[in-house]
Amino acid sequence: RKVAVLMGGPSAEREVSLSSGRDCAAALRDEGYEVVELDAGPDLAARLVDIAPDAVFNALHGRWGEDGCVQGLLEWLRIPYTHSGVMASAMAMDKERTKAIYREHGLPVVPSILASKADVMAAHVMDAPYVVKPFNEGSSVGVYLVQEGANAPPKLSDDMPEIVMVEAFAPGRELTTTVVGDRALCVTDILTDGWYDYEAKYAEGGSRHVVPADIPKEIEALCLDYALRAHQALGCRGVTRTDFRWDEARGADGLILLETNTQPGMTPTSLTPEQAQKTGMSMGALCAWMVEDASC
Ligand code: DAL
Ligand code: MG
Repeated sequence: RKVAVLMGGPSAEREVSLSSGRDCAAALRDEGYEVVELDAGPDLAARLVDIAPDAVFNALHGRWGEDGCVQGLLEWLRIPYTHSGVMASAMAMDKERTKAIYREHGLPVVPSILASKADVMAAHVMDAPYVVKPFNEGSSVGVYLVQEGANAPPKLSDDMPEIVMVEAFAPGRELTTTVVGDRALCVTDILTDGWYDYEAKYAEGGSRHVVPADIPKEIEALCLDYALRAHQALGCRGVTRTDFRWDEARGADGLILLETNTQPGMTPTSLTPEQAQKTGMSMGALCAWMVEDASC
């Protein structure tokens, strides 16, 4: 079977996607697939028509690749593709809409608002500590933490969008759970010296992963349950990864959902391949499962 692995693209997570794509392409070749690696540019549609793959493995991250855009193109071309469809991708890419859906389904979140960049820079729009982030980026691109007691409101860079998300800071441990189809795999506890930012996510040794997490059974069960319910509430397909914060001091009430990633990272330092491995699914088996699950 011929598989086109889409990677790169124009998003802020281009480098992450190239890394994901290369790893997935290698794993699929080892599984016996004929693989064509494709850096997604403006000629994507024409190239796909030329290649005529049996399936597309979407290893894109961020805008255009994770938000329903490329999914729409693949529907149009009638090529089966991995991961979520148009609507779920678009919903999950928007952190504010995601939270509205979580709330509707009884999944716990912290308060947040959308605000204009100008308002956010003029005065505190919420009691500190809080976090300012684009509502539609991944990999912690453009995330600002405003510490408790900070006098000045944050100075946002020019490349931040005009409307940003402002979210109450949720203290605690960084937990995450991957869903594969109808199965939540396990929980990883992510340990970093500071913030789990872009550097900590992708630099070798930037963070330490404890998997399965050393947490109470009750919290582990909640993460698995919440991750699967989030995946289903958003209408996702294939593989997703839901990120949590857990404030240990507050027990089960201290667990909140941050977001669901519809194109979780597949790089050498990424969480999803590691969780699959720990639960008995090799990188090759995971990628092959995704290709066989592809649809349009
Ligand atoms: N946005 C990155 C790729 C992730 O969620 O893993
Ligand atoms: Mg994300």
